[in-house]
Amino acid sequence: MQSEQNEQLTSHLLKNYARYEIYFSHGEGAYLYDTNGNKYLDFLCGIAVTSFGHNHPVIKSAIKEQLDKFWHLSNLFVSSLQEDVANTLAARTGMEYVFFSNSGTEANEAAIKFTRKWGNGRYGIISTLKSFHGRTMGAVSASGQEKLWKGFYPLLEGFSYVPYNDLEAIRAAINGNTAAVIIEPIQGEGGIAVASEEYLKGLRKICDEHNLLLIFDEIQCGFGRTGKLFAHQWAGVKPDILTSAKGIANGLPLGATLCTKAVGDLMTPGSHGTTFGGNPVALAASKAVLDLLNDDMLINIRSNGEYFMGLLKDIKHKAITEVRGKGLMIGVEFKNEVSPKDVLKKLMEHNILSATAGDTVLRILPPFVAGKEEFHYYAKTLTEVLAEF
Ligand SMILES: Cc1ncc(COP(=O)(O)O)c(C=O)c1O
Repeated sequence: MQSEQNEQLTSHLLKNYARYEIYFSHGEGAYLYDTNGNKYLDFLCGIAVTSFGHNHPVIKSAIKEQLDKFWHLSNLFVSSLQEDVANTLAARTGMEYVFFSNSGTEANEAAIKFTRKWGNGRYGIISTLKSFHGRTMGAVSASGQEKLWKGFYPLLEGFSYVPYNDLEAIRAAINGNTAAVIIEPIQGEGGIAVASEEYLKGLRKICDEHNLLLIFDEIQCGFGRTGKLFAHQWAGVKPDILTSAKGIANGLPLGATLCTKAVGDLMTPGSHGTTFGGNPVALAASKAVLDLLNDDMLINIRSNGEYFMGLLKDIKHKAITEVRGKGLMIGVEFKNEVSPKDVLKKLMEHNILSATAGDTVLRILPPFVAGKEEFHYYAKTLTEVLAEF
């Protein structure tokens, strides 16, 4: 599906993406439609972004209402929308302050700057292998994957990388310069690796013992994806900094860096900022998303996740080594002889969209509006597709 034709058509676009040549015309709920009238089941959600599906009436009307008022004012003025969403986020996480930006990588850049300010000379950050934190230089440096660094050295100083879910490795990596530990409670790009509750609790304890900040990157696993507003809430631990983006505004660009009072009080006027960050239209969408993500919806995401994961676990194929995840963030791991990229392409031929994660995992991110019909269709089609391998 990745064709040369596409190169000709997009010749002025930087060739930094390998794109599938499907021209979508519109979306509705869990489905996307192409210009040839084909209907696709969207279990990719723009990589965990359009969690409430396409053309959601509540989110759309919130956006339209804001469009009729103003689209941008700058951060020179007070913003009741930013206050409103920040209040809700604070109330639902126990964090004190929220800084709004435009993307995940920016949310993490802010976290790195907050850490440096708080560290007051200490700036080391321990990260995990296979982690992904974004593409700007700080976020790339925070990511524990060599393939992201190649060609872009030197990295930002002070990062070290240890195996995931390994508390002893964290302890061993701490030195006099260490200021923080950053982890994704579920590694997304790294292969849907789920942190154990003991790991998250242990990290909190270690950070407290050594006076380090604990940073949770919930850009992919947050905003309801696991059936809690944020995935770390399953373990009942609180970070010092929490980063969010992707599903936060169902497709409009928005990032958020939340932090405790001790961290946030150090960030004074002029210490950080962005022109577009906290855009009112994105905030209006985010407010609607937060309203939709009420307790009933979170319970629904959990039960749908369990139901769908059950169907996937029932698929018997010799190449499947594990089905794992939480809520509606699911990975199916394959043995080396089956490439998830090939499975993905076959699924696409059957009008189903999903993603891969790492080299061995098929990543499935259904929208929260999907139901039993969609879950059964996905599982049945995956079973049929795998029979060809
Ligand atoms: C865990 C995590 N952190 C950071 C990012 C970067 O976000 P963005 O692409 O919005 O910059 C991503 C994106 O995939 C992510 O999954």
